[in-house]
Parts: sequence; C-alpha cells; structure tokens
Amino acid sequence: MKQTVAIIGAQWGDEGKGKIVDRFARPADWVVRYQGGSNAGHTVVVEDEKYVLHLIPSGILHENTLSMIGPGVVVNLRDLFEEIEMLRKNDKSVLERLRVAGRAHVLFPFHRYIDVRSEDKRGEDKIGTTGKGIGPAYLDKVRRRGLRICDLADRDKVHSHCEKIFSELDEGWAEFEKSSVEELAGEYSEYYQQLKDIVVDAPSELDAAYRRGEKILFEGAQGSLLDIDFGTYPYVTSSNPTVGGVVTGSGFPGHRLKSVLGIAKAYTTRVGEGPFPAELTGEMGQWLQDKGGEFGATTGRPRRCGWLDLKILRYTARVNGFTDLVLTKLDVLSGQEKLKVAVDYRGPSGQPINGFPARSEQLAEVEPVYEELEGWDEDITDCSKFSELPAAARDYVKYIEENLQVPVSYLSVGPGRRQFIERKAGL
Ligand code: GDP
Ligand code: IMO
Ligand code: MG
Repeated sequence: MKQTVAIIGAQWGDEGKGKIVDRFARPADWVVRYQGGSNAGHTVVVEDEKYVLHLIPSGILHENTLSMIGPGVVVNLRDLFEEIEMLRKNDKSVLERLRVAGRAHVLFPFHRYIDVRSEDKRGEDKIGTTGKGIGPAYLDKVRRRGLRICDLADRDKVHSHCEKIFSELDEGWAEFEKSSVEELAGEYSEYYQQLKDIVVDAPSELDAAYRRGEKILFEGAQGSLLDIDFGTYPYVTSSNPTVGGVVTGSGFPGHRLKSVLGIAKAYTTRVGEGPFPAELTGEMGQWLQDKGGEFGATTGRPRRCGWLDLKILRYTARVNGFTDLVLTKLDVLSGQEKLKVAVDYRGPSGQPINGFPARSEQLAEVEPVYEELEGWDEDITDCSKFSELPAAARDYVKYIEENLQVPVSYLSVGPGRRQFIERKAGL
C-alpha cells in the first residue's frame, strides 16, 4: 500500500504537529515541509532532550527517514545552518538525510528587516508576525524578483540582486545588518557550495519515491486558520498551510495523497493579533496557558488561550478534507469539573451565522454558543489505550468526532513520544 499522508494544523498553529510528525516518521521514507519558513517552531521531545525545529522537517531524528525542504518553503539559510549545527551535536549524519528543493526561495536578512519595519509602521493595526521575514520573502516571490536556492549558484547574480535591494532600503538597514553587499553575496554563495550536493528537483524525487511505494509524509507549518486564502485574513501568514499547499509547495500531485490528518489541540490557542471567538481572557485562560506551557516555540510570546471551537474545526475539516484527526494536549484539560466547547456562533443581535465568517470584523463580534461537558480529574499522561482514559475524557473525544463527522483516530496525552494513543493501527 502506498502511504502518502499530509499532516496539517487544524487551528491557528502550535497544535503539536512536530510531535505527531516525529511519531509517525519512524517507518516513513520521507518527510517534506511544503510551506512557511522559520516562523514555524515544531517541538519534538525525545527522552530528556527537547528539539525545536524551524525549517528542517520533524522526521530528521529518524535515521532511515529523508527530510526535504520543499519548493514552497522560504528558506532563511542562516537559520538553516544554525539548525543543522544544533542537530549535528548529537548526530553527525544530519546533512546526509536532508534535501533542499532548488526551487525554494531564499529568505534574506533584508526580508526580516522589512517585516519588522512594516509591523512597526502598522502600529495598532499590526498583524503580530513572528518577525522572521516571511511576508516580504513571499512578496518578492510573487512579484517575480526573488532568488531561489538554485540561483545562488551564480555569485554575480546574487551580488547584483543584493546591490539592488540594498539601494532601496532606508537608513535603518545599516543598523540592522552589518554585512556589506560583498559580504552578504559571499556568505550566500558559500551556503550554496555547502548545500549543492543535496539540492534536488523535488517533483522528480517525490515521483520516484512514490513509484517505489515509499511512505511520504507532508508536514504542514502554521495552521489552517493562518492560511493566506482560507484563514482569518489579514491576520494570517503568507502561505497555504491547507491541503492545496501540499500540491503547490512540493510538486506532488493531489490525487496521490492517501490521507489528510488534521492536528487539533484539545482547546484553542493563537499567537499574534486577530479575532478569536472562544478566547478566555480571565482565570481559565491563564490556567490553560500555565498548564499547557503556552508560550511560542519561535518567539517565546505567550499564546492566547480559549475553549475548543468546533465551528473552527468543522470549517478546517471541510477546507482540508481531513480523513482523521489527532487530538493533542488532552492531558492539559485534566482537573476541570466542567469543560466548554464552542459548537456555533451567533451574531451581536443573536442571529445565526451560516458558514465560517470571511470578514475578520464579523468574526470579532460573534458570540460563541457553548455546550458544557463533564471534565475529569485524573492524570492521563500515562494512558496508552483509549479504554484507560476516564469516561468523561472518552466522552469528550466522542462528542468531538460525532460533531465533526471525522474520526479522532489518535490522541496525544503528553509531549513525549510514547504519550500517544492509537485508536486505529498505524496511519
Ligand atoms: P507545532 O508548532 O504544531 O509543532 O507545536 P509546538 O511545538 O509549537 O507546540 C506544542 C507544544 O506542546 C510543544 O511544547 C510540545 O512539546 C507540547 N506537546 C505536544 N503534544 C502534547 C501533548 O499531548 N500534551 C502536552 N502536555 N504537551 C504536548
Ligand atoms: P507553527 O508551525 C503559530 C502567526 C504569527 C502571526 C501570523 C503571521 O509552529 O505552528 P508570519 O511571521 O507568518 O508572517 O506571522 O502567523 N504564526 C504562527 N502562529 N504557530 C506558527 O507556526 C506560526 N507561524 C506564524 O504569530 O499571527
Ligand atoms: Mg509551533
């Protein structure tokens, strides 16, 4: 059986994708990142060691799995080499298992500068980006003046490109980045020399792997509600984490995807600005933030927390065609007498809301309609079977899958590799 699985965040990111990709990557031949850049922070915990991966796919810790940074990713090469060095401390063979698509765009320090500056200029209207230069890098790509990894082979091209961009930047740039045009062009050409043996044509590699019957996982970054087309625009990222992004961001045809796994946290979190109907700003929100350790893996910012929102999950299940869900961080909810779940929204005058609102202004003023479910007290972090969970936790899970009409096939009950419950064997 050919196994090709997309693993996609079902909310606003940080659902625990890194842990789940690592969990499924051991028997996989490939893990492919298809969008985003080092705005992502994917945590993998192995025994006492914690790895936070920003660009390198979360399968990298498995010695028989190849990791590909796909054509749809914007690659900050300084971050990439830092990550390679971090991994090389425990494993010298990391580069042998890594592939980088030649068509992936390069994210330069000036993209970061432009990101930070434009957020400053927006003031109150800021998006709350990670400041990693993601929007400006995708902007250069779309306006057809970006440089791709393959273009770094031509040092003169890199030099003239940097020279042109430098001449357009304001006076703050020299303060932000100390390197001259020559130094930057030299640095990036050198990166290419170090990478050139692992630069690949992604569609050829993936087609050949598929024909050999290999198992390929596609690792989404961010989450469906941060999607540039389907998310809570304009408070979104600049790429497509949803399933269409797998196809455009890797060169792998959609009809070959066997399943689409949605990763959903047992409650909801969001980092940055933008509407969040089920947000809890009082004590309960603080409790979730503390108990769930809800601080950004990339920026360290506190994550806003709220109840689970099934209106969101129904929407993102539709956009992605989730075949199964993985419910993560269920352990965090232990210790509450009652749990609320948003099942629908009403407008400010109580009117029903059909579908998921496209306008952020409308989403900001809806009132969630809550169902109250029984909570549980028991610590569930050692449970390895569904039947070992308290009845109320099982009911919580069943309520979700019945409402969404998507099976919750896997559960995560702690950050560790073994803290995982399979209700269905394998993928
Ligand atoms: P990602 O961006 O989707 O990969 O998620 P992050 O790594 O940014 O955030 C998820 C956080 O929750 C990380 O600190 C994980 O180690 C942790 N985590 C993942 N799954 C679980 C779980 O089931 N329970 C608990 N308590 N923590 C988890
Ligand atoms: P992972 O892969 C959570 C958010 C930012 C901001 C918006 C736009 O770890 O789930 P950007 O820097 O992309 O232009 O910021 O998107 N954001 C994330 N939130 N998890 C992420 O990644 C995120 N990547 C970006 O906070 O609101
Ligand atoms: Mg994250």
